[in-house]
Amino acid sequence: MKDYAAEAFASLNSDDKAFLKALPKAELHAHLNGCIPLSCLQDLVRQRPVQTSGTTESDEKIAKGLAMLEQGVVLEEIHEFFDLFPAIYALTSTPAALRQATAAVLAQFLQPQGDSGEQEPAQCIYLELRTTPRENAEMSREQYLDAVLCEMETYSADKCALIVSTDRRMDTTTMMECVSIAAKLKGAGRRVVGIDLCGTPTIGNAEDFLPAFKLAEESGLKLTVHIAETTANTEQDVMTLLSANPSRLGHATFLHKEARELVLEKKMAIEICLSSNLLCKTVDDLKAHHINYWLEHGLPLAICTDDTLVFRNDLVGEYALLMAAPPLGLGLSRDKVSLLAKMSLDVRFEQ
Ligand code: IMP
Ligand code: ZN
Repeated sequence: MKDYAAEAFASLNSDDKAFLKALPKAELHAHLNGCIPLSCLQDLVRQRPVQTSGTTESDEKIAKGLAMLEQGVVLEEIHEFFDLFPAIYALTSTPAALRQATAAVLAQFLQPQGDSGEQEPAQCIYLELRTTPRENAEMSREQYLDAVLCEMETYSADKCALIVSTDRRMDTTTMMECVSIAAKLKGAGRRVVGIDLCGTPTIGNAEDFLPAFKLAEESGLKLTVHIAETTANTEQDVMTLLSANPSRLGHATFLHKEARELVLEKKMAIEICLSSNLLCKTVDDLKAHHINYWLEHGLPLAICTDDTLVFRNDLVGEYALLMAAPPLGLGLSRDKVSLLAKMSLDVRFEQ
C-alpha cells in the first residue's frame, strides 16, 4: 500500500516536521471502528473466547480481515473499503471490547506518543470522534453509545466529543432511533454534539434520511454528511442532503456546480481526508484534489484522517501532504498550513 502521508512527511526538513507536530489541530472526521490501533485489534483477537467446536465463519472472517490490515490494504475501488468492517465489528461487539477500542482510539489522538524519553506531542488538541451505534445480543444501541461515552468522558469536555453516525443502509425508523438516542443522551448532559451520515456512498434514498436530520436539528444536534463521495452519487442525492442544511460535509469530492454554489453561499465547512481519497482512488492525485478549489474560494476546511487503521495515516501526515513540495504535497506555506489548522478548530461542533 502506498503511504502518501508518510512519504510527504519524510520529505520535509526537521524544522518543518517539528512545526507540524507542534501545530494545534482538531480532528473532526475520524470513525471509531476505522481508527482502532492495530495493536489493540490484535489484543481483541487474543481475548476472544476459544471456540470448542472448531473454526467458525466469524473466526475465518476475522483472521482474513486482520491479515489484510496487518499487511496494509490495497484498494482497487472504494466498495472494497467497506468490506473490511465486518471483521472489525466482530471484535468490538461487546461493551467491554468497545470500551477498550474507544480508549485506544482516544489515546492515539489525544495523548503524547512515544516513549517517555522521546515523547511526541499529541496528534490533536481536540477530537470529534464518530461512530455508528450497533445493536446485538450483547448490547442495545443506547448501551453501545453509553460504552463509548464513558470512555470519552474520562477526558475533559474541551478535549473530545461524540458524533453519532447513521448509516445509509438504515431505514428511516432505525435512523430516527439513533438520532432519538443521541438527543436523549445529549439532554441528559452526555457529550454528544452531532449526527453524521456515512456508509456505502450510493446505498439508500436520501429523502428517507430527512426526518432523522430534522429531529437532529430540533434536538440541537449539528449535522455532518458524507456527500458526493463518488461519481455515482446523483445530483438529486447531493441536493437532498444539502437541503437538510448540514454545518459540515464529509469529502464533498464530486459536487456539481449548483451544489458548490450553495455550499459557498451557506459557508458549510468541508472535512478533507486526503489520504483516504487517494487510497480509495476517488481522486487521482493531489493536483486534482478538490481541496485546491475550496482553498481558492476561501471555504472553511478541516483536515482529517477518516480511518487511520485502514489508511495507516495520522493527522501530522495529513498536514504534511499540505506542506510538502509537489508532487508529494501541495506546497502550502507555513502561514497557510497554520490557517488551516486554526480553521479545523473553528468549525468544531462544540464551541
Ligand atoms: P463506526 O461507525 O465506528 O463503526 O466506523 C466504521 C464505519 O464508518 C464503516 O462501517 C462505514 O460505514 C463508515 N465509514 C468509514 N469511512 C467512511 C467513508 O469514507 N465514507 C463513508 N463511510 C465511512
Ligand atoms: Zn468518513
